[in-house]
Amino acid sequence: MVKLTVLVVGSGGREHALALAIARDVEVESVHVAPGNPATWALDAQYGIDHDSDLGKRISSVDPMDSASVIEVAEELGVNLVVVGPEAPLVAGLADAVRDAGIQCFGASKAAAQLEGSKNFAKQIMTAAKVPTARSMYCTTAAEASWALSEFGAPYVVKDDGLAAGKGVVVTEDRDEALAHAKACLPVVIEEYLDGPEVSLFVICDGNKGLPLLPAQDFKRVGEGDTGPNTGGMGAYCPLPWAPENLVSKVMKKVVKPTLKEMFNRGIPFQGLLYVGLALTTKGLRVVEFNVRFGDPETEAVLPLLKYPLGQILYAAAAGSLGDIPELTWDDEVSLVVVYAANGYPGVPSKQGTITIPPPVDQVQVIHCGTGLDENGDLVPRGGRVLGIVAQGEDLIEARENAYSFLEEIDFPGGFYRSDIAQTASVDRIPTPTL
Ligand code: AMP
Ligand code: GLY
Repeated sequence: MVKLTVLVVGSGGREHALALAIARDVEVESVHVAPGNPATWALDAQYGIDHDSDLGKRISSVDPMDSASVIEVAEELGVNLVVVGPEAPLVAGLADAVRDAGIQCFGASKAAAQLEGSKNFAKQIMTAAKVPTARSMYCTTAAEASWALSEFGAPYVVKDDGLAAGKGVVVTEDRDEALAHAKACLPVVIEEYLDGPEVSLFVICDGNKGLPLLPAQDFKRVGEGDTGPNTGGMGAYCPLPWAPENLVSKVMKKVVKPTLKEMFNRGIPFQGLLYVGLALTTKGLRVVEFNVRFGDPETEAVLPLLKYPLGQILYAAAAGSLGDIPELTWDDEVSLVVVYAANGYPGVPSKQGTITIPPPVDQVQVIHCGTGLDENGDLVPRGGRVLGIVAQGEDLIEARENAYSFLEEIDFPGGFYRSDIAQTASVDRIPTPTL
């Protein structure tokens, strides 16, 4: 095992969850998150860095889009591993800059991050690698978009080609709405609709090899019963009691291995996190999307169950030596996260009110996704998704009970959450698809 000092870049729930999982390793001397949030600043304090100190202030003023500011703090902290959380800095080339500065970095290169940065690039790779995905058309004009909508028919699926923070995709029965979205976003990818349950599978990659984590499912729509607009995700759970037994091996064989090979052959090896968004359709599995970073909030649910030290795995991936890591093993429990969002999300979130969190209880962790401190030092909302309440249990019924009884005790007048996260799965009402 390698002694590690780690800097996680980002400020949301994913980064908080990554830091907590990395910190569980006895070989980790310290882990910091930049710019972080009030919960990760408290973690800094445990490692002797006060939030009000000069270094504390430099950590919390890091701009992930400015590689010089990340590298300066990484060097000052003397870290030997940087882990990049969000996609935008990866697409802008942060991981390349960190590696050029001589520090190991877990995160896709700028060229490889195009798998998420351009839906069209991702489709080209999938086509070349014969990865099953929705038939699609890349449209640069309104006339092409109109033709493609008629070609594929309803429900219509229109995707902004570039990064859009989870808001670039519209799935609708309404042709006018689909065309309006296409016109607003050109160029777009228009594709056939995929039915069936969705699964998120995270695969840690070192350029050649991929190591899958547990499959998870997230809840994209803002409202109860999967209604309303898409969000970044309102909750998630894992493992999936209804998943076919061969799900992971099939995704590795049909999707991950050919994709890694295709990227390698093009001279853009994929090192970092390959997030495979899948639909298990009546015609078999299909890739809905690739992302190049851990999913949020699925990460919050998945990582607490991981037995092998996460920092060691990420370091091995960054160093190109994932082959040295044994097959991963998992706690025999289930895990779920429910997001407490600010009123208005996924539109403009309210920043009103303060948040009071009750004292910790067993099997429940409070993850900070979008919080800040006001001038009195009170905890306040600073984003759309504000908290993630993560809970474990013997089964989903118990994990839900643990999460929701804690949620009821949180005082957050300007917030809301979905009360049906993992409900259908908890009562065994999702049929197992055949692959
Ligand atoms: P993406 O950004 O590609 O993940 O899309 C966001 C969400 O839109 C996905 O998680 C799906 O719920 C939905 N979606 C995307 N593509 C399709 C498709 N071809 N068919 C049905 N739903 C889709
Ligand atoms: N939860 C979906 C995502 O991270 O994109």
